[in-house]
Amino acid sequence: MTGMRRRELLGGALAAGALPLLDPAASLARGAAAEPESPLLHGLGPRGDAPWFLPQPDPSRWLLDEGWRFHEGDIVVPPPASHHETYLSVKAGNARGAAAVDWDDSDWPVLRLPHDWASAQPFVREANVSQGYRPRGKGWYRRTFRLDPADRGKKLELQFGGIATACTIWFNGSIVARNTSAYNAVLVDITPFARFGDADNVIAVRVDADAMEGWWYEGAGLYRHVWLAKRSPVCIATDGVHCDPRLVDGRWQVPLAVTLESVAGEARIVSVAAVLRDGEGREIARGAVRVSVGPLASAEARFVLPAGEPRLWSVVDPALYEVEVTLDGPDGADARRIPIGFRTVRFDAQRGFLLNGQPVKLKGVCLHQDHAGVGIGVPDALLAWRLLRLKDLGCNAIRCSHNAQAEEFYALCDRMGFLVMDENRVFNPAPENMAQLEWLVRAHRNHPCVVLWSVFNEEPMQGTPEGVEMVRRMRAAVRALDDSRPVTAAMNGAFHDPVNVSQVVDVAGFNYYPGDYDRFHAAHPDLPLTSSEDTSAYMTRGAYADDPQRHVISSMDREAAGWGATHRQAWREIARRPFVAGGFVWTGFDYHGEPTPYAWPTIASFFGILDLCGFAKTAYDIRRAQWIDGQPVVGIAPHWTWPGREGQEIDILVTSNAEQVRLRMNGEVIGEKPCDRIMGAEFKAIYRPGVIAAEALQGGKVVARAVHRTAGPAVALRLTATRRDLRGDGEDVAAFTVDTVDAKGVHVPLADARVTFRTWGGTLIGVGNGDPNCHESEKAPERSLFNGLAQLIVRADAREGQVLIEARAAGLVPARIAVPVRAAMRPPAIAPQPPRATIAELRCSPAYVERPDPALRPADGDNNLWSFVRTPWTAAPEPEARWRIYRAAVPARRALVRQGGRLLFERLAGVAELWVDGVLLARKADAAPAPLAAPLPPGAREIALLVRSSPGVPSGIAGAVLAEV
Ligand code: GAL
Repeated sequence: MTGMRRRELLGGALAAGALPLLDPAASLARGAAAEPESPLLHGLGPRGDAPWFLPQPDPSRWLLDEGWRFHEGDIVVPPPASHHETYLSVKAGNARGAAAVDWDDSDWPVLRLPHDWASAQPFVREANVSQGYRPRGKGWYRRTFRLDPADRGKKLELQFGGIATACTIWFNGSIVARNTSAYNAVLVDITPFARFGDADNVIAVRVDADAMEGWWYEGAGLYRHVWLAKRSPVCIATDGVHCDPRLVDGRWQVPLAVTLESVAGEARIVSVAAVLRDGEGREIARGAVRVSVGPLASAEARFVLPAGEPRLWSVVDPALYEVEVTLDGPDGADARRIPIGFRTVRFDAQRGFLLNGQPVKLKGVCLHQDHAGVGIGVPDALLAWRLLRLKDLGCNAIRCSHNAQAEEFYALCDRMGFLVMDENRVFNPAPENMAQLEWLVRAHRNHPCVVLWSVFNEEPMQGTPEGVEMVRRMRAAVRALDDSRPVTAAMNGAFHDPVNVSQVVDVAGFNYYPGDYDRFHAAHPDLPLTSSEDTSAYMTRGAYADDPQRHVISSMDREAAGWGATHRQAWREIARRPFVAGGFVWTGFDYHGEPTPYAWPTIASFFGILDLCGFAKTAYDIRRAQWIDGQPVVGIAPHWTWPGREGQEIDILVTSNAEQVRLRMNGEVIGEKPCDRIMGAEFKAIYRPGVIAAEALQGGKVVARAVHRTAGPAVALRLTATRRDLRGDGEDVAAFTVDTVDAKGVHVPLADARVTFRTWGGTLIGVGNGDPNCHESEKAPERSLFNGLAQLIVRADAREGQVLIEARAAGLVPARIAVPVRAAMRPPAIAPQPPRATIAELRCSPAYVERPDPALRPADGDNNLWSFVRTPWTAAPEPEARWRIYRAAVPARRALVRQGGRLLFERLAGVAELWVDGVLLARKADAAPAPLAAPLPPGAREIALLVRSSPGVPSGIAGAVLAEV
């Protein structure tokens, strides 16, 4: 497209005033036109839909992402005062304060998960440096929902994907879980607590995000999905299917171990069947067994599916099969669909990592979880896009540093063909932490992507007898659950100490210390070795000179942490040693927190190959040249827009996997050299505006080309979508790139315009620009470009239609883009229930023959004469009429206190009088069951309901009691 046509498109897009809907097809053309030709924008254009839609592995799960009420900050209520309050406060179902079932959360904002409240915090100098100067604090979440009466008797389990960080969870007023780690799922059996029909079920979660498990930004809140599993009374346990394929005597098979559990009243015999299908859904094998499961007990079904000669899973062909396990019993059915892959993994002390018997060098990156704009609350589609960015740069391995990632991460790695080193967080074999480690293995051991378990990262005890004992226990725990993968520990020293943990692992993990690879290997020729972490090089994306004053570091690959090495040095050490299985670059993406080497006002790291937004640094081209085989690549740094530097010398780095590279300026050849694919080729050139081009040559022929053009002043904004369309599933999001172009449509690499955004049909969930020194809000609908780029992340609202985005900045032609939203299956979800005030718990007096005084109340300390009842509650039929008093407090709702409301007994059986704070408000003269309502005065505190039974029929509160505003 010519500069002229580009200008017409941009200029014509927005006149002024009301915004007409764009024709999505036309805007796709616009997206295509906007496809950047500059290598600085590699791979940021539309990528279509495909790999990030994950099929639901568990058909009995319902999503609870929507409708959470959130309160930022703690809610502390005074301790109980009286004996009676104290007595009640420690009873099941009677949690106090914001954990109480009837706590007034009606004015809490409602939000959708994933949620990280710290990502909306300002940067505060006094806040913790490692956590990125963001106060984290405490917060509360509540969610109300109802259950169908048909769900009674089912096994009900809440599944929190991850909560940052420590939390307490209440369900219907009882504490059901306490958890201390942000990185493991929290599974809560709510079966005994659940209520059905009209009754509300209330989840309350108190999150303590002041707790820290790491030295990086850890976010705050319910930052992964929450599900409710509704299962048959005898069911397959969560993570209860182990079906990791094995090659036994040259034949593939899938050994199955299925853990069953039961909430049924009696022993049941169920049949458990499994079908193995290939990627096209063709059945390969099936098997079944019958198992007896005792009441509230568990049992295991074991059998083996022969798999013949399946297509093997690999990083280039991640062929997946599926094991569908079904359970059928007298009380219902349960099922799981588990993607599996057939592959062998082995770490060899001489040959490194072998996948299916062939050496595969681990070209890996370490990852934390956060992304610009959203913190650790990364929606699945954004996670998938981050992984695609890594695929684009030739990465084939990921280390989950230093903790488990979201469930979806592993499913995506299976599908995309990444090799995963999965890592435990807390190094401690005490029962609580051991349970976390065991969860990690149980939850992830079916994934073909996982090839290595790591029990720790850089522990000072790594060279001590205690450290050895701890690792020994943790390794044994891992091996008891999975005997197919080796165990490592990421050491940063003590390699040669007389006692050190490398003596009790299967693979030695080296963080840094490349100078010790050879010595260690010579001393332990039979122990496989991998770099578990390396590099730690510094780069500011888009900057090509150091500016220490402004905390800017050139991305010409010249600087690294004292313990690290540049991208080129680090890989050189790994690549040339076959016995080193591979490496894991610190890090794939920049991350919030751990600002190194600069601290305040720097709030993020400089280590990424990609910045916080996933924009490429020079490291991206360096790694492509080092890692991509079978496809010629070439990159060139820096950009070619240097106003004022005409006639001056500029250092140029060309990176390529081809044998020779040639440099041209304005068409003229200014240099040609052999190219080392690890180190690249360095040139110097006298700057003249125009075009700088690097050509990669193989056998004398140009096989790839990279070009930078000198840009003039920015005239227009440009928006580029990273997706062709979005799924209208309520969850899907896309990242959009914002940049500016000059009058010829050339990307302007130094632009720093402040851009404001408007969206239609979509919700802006975050913005960023990759600048580790930027303190702008990551939630506001505006962002400055940093070295020419910014990003916004938008969630599609509607089921069908389009997301339309407009970007404006002073003095620039605005830009718009539309992305179609296509109808898509939504995951089954449980709707939130709007807040309502009910009176469910009452005290009921003994039965009296004579009408008692309505002022009668239980004595303080009487927990026995007056009984505790829960609505609906009726007294059994009596031969003669009797009187009872029911007493309860009016629910503490701010609106009720302010303006009063209406009290409604949906169904009262018996003659009744309703007294509120000593005043008779309503009477029911007819004994037959009927509703009773009365206006509730503002500030009303206590109700007393007198009910007289009729002989031979039940009497009492036979329905819900509502306090309506
Ligand atoms: C390593 C550590 C990482 C990170 C990195 C920074 O020692 O494992 O978590 O702190 O250093 O270079």
